[in-house]
Amino acid sequence: MDEAFEGRVLVIANRLPITIKEVQEGDFEYNISSGGLVSGLRSLAKAVDFKWFGWPGIDIHRNDKDKVRHDLADKFNAYPIFLPEDLAQRHYNGFSNSVLWPLLHRMPEKVGAEESWSKAYQEVNEIFADNIVPYVEDGDIVWVHDYHLLLLPGILRARLGKKKNLRIGFFLHTPFPTDDFFTILPFREEICRSLLLCDVVGFHTQEYARDFLNSASVVLEGVSRSPSDLHWDGRKVIVHGFPIGIEPGDFREKMETDAVKQELDGLKKYFTGQKILLGVDRLDYIKGIPQKLRAFDRFLTEHPEWLGKVVLIQLAIPTRPDVVTYQRLREEVESLVGHVNGKHGTFSHTPIHYLYRSIKPEQLCALYAVSDVCIISSIRDGLNMVSYEYIACQNKETAGTLMMSYYAGAVKTLPSCTVINPWDIPRFANTIRDVLDMPQAERRQRYTENAHVVDTYTSVRWGTSFLNTCYKMELPKQTDGGT
Ligand code: G6P
Repeated sequence: MDEAFEGRVLVIANRLPITIKEVQEGDFEYNISSGGLVSGLRSLAKAVDFKWFGWPGIDIHRNDKDKVRHDLADKFNAYPIFLPEDLAQRHYNGFSNSVLWPLLHRMPEKVGAEESWSKAYQEVNEIFADNIVPYVEDGDIVWVHDYHLLLLPGILRARLGKKKNLRIGFFLHTPFPTDDFFTILPFREEICRSLLLCDVVGFHTQEYARDFLNSASVVLEGVSRSPSDLHWDGRKVIVHGFPIGIEPGDFREKMETDAVKQELDGLKKYFTGQKILLGVDRLDYIKGIPQKLRAFDRFLTEHPEWLGKVVLIQLAIPTRPDVVTYQRLREEVESLVGHVNGKHGTFSHTPIHYLYRSIKPEQLCALYAVSDVCIISSIRDGLNMVSYEYIACQNKETAGTLMMSYYAGAVKTLPSCTVINPWDIPRFANTIRDVLDMPQAERRQRYTENAHVVDTYTSVRWGTSFLNTCYKMELPKQTDGGT
């Protein structure tokens, strides 16, 4: 597998890897953003030199924009696309996270609706194009990411038709639904047309790629398919699974630092004599946190011999706090935590340790390392990078166990996790008991098999294989982009 890529690449994602905060008037602080997409691409940036375009999360006074642009380009190779606050909110909280996100995760009951959102979505995709077009040169690969920008490839293809050897790639970081969910989407035809003007469209798994191929065939006329290509309007589009990864070496390096060792010592002392179950999730309804808490409750109820000998540490990372469904989820989760602790806790033992915040990378690594089991209970999840990070912070001695939902993409890539159905609470609870009792030899074997995947399928390999697929792709005869 070729793990290098030399061509010129422009990466476009809604979120920049850097969040800007105005600490005082005209004085800015730059922080690293979080999320699977950002961490995957940040690792890739070490191997492939690309410009990163995206929304910086705030709008700032126009007098300060040039200074911030200069700082970001200089320090991070990042190019901010500023959006008026109200428009950004309708695009981000509105159409992207209240319509597209739930539908892509097959949860139509979570969809909100406001007429102005779809217009804002189209407008933001246009504004992104306005900002990117001046930077594109002949021979470039323009790589668009994720559901916030589904219309962008089509707009770019129309505006950049005269560029020679231009390749446009698109990667979706979420699942892709079956056609009965996809067809609920407003402007489903426009979305399909836009994606079919790419050269390569990538998903985390082959199943999502297949579901996209099915949807495109249902929604548009004249689509013909071979197993992983799609032909439409004289163009060939490669549609394929490219599961993302992490850079495990970065985690292992961090594990060797004094800061992590100190954190780890502290945690070991504090939780002496207890088994630790760990959950690390953005506080998102796709992550199945209530299901996990209910299964833990049931486990403690049915196995009182474990009371006082096991804790669940649940880290809930704040996300999209302005969206109502996320606010409701927080209430539900916090009430469940209170319920379980009230029911099973004692003065000297708290069964669930719940944190609603982000923590430092050193603390996260130590948490991963100290935990006996990591539980991923998503009810739908594109891939799930936490599972990879957990494995990277374990070793053959600790050999922590990974419980993985059948509905997370990583169930297809990590062969030796223990699969759970988050909806089946009684079996989920029994599986908690089984993994706690799992013999060391089996844990070690499963860890070794999973670690092999994490070490082999890294984010650099993901990115370079996507880009090489774009690059080596036979271009349509008319080199003007040919639409
Ligand atoms: C998922 C999405 C990303 C997103 C991330 C964090 O991984 O696929 O596009 O950036 O969640 O969500 P946020 O809304 O904070 O960007």
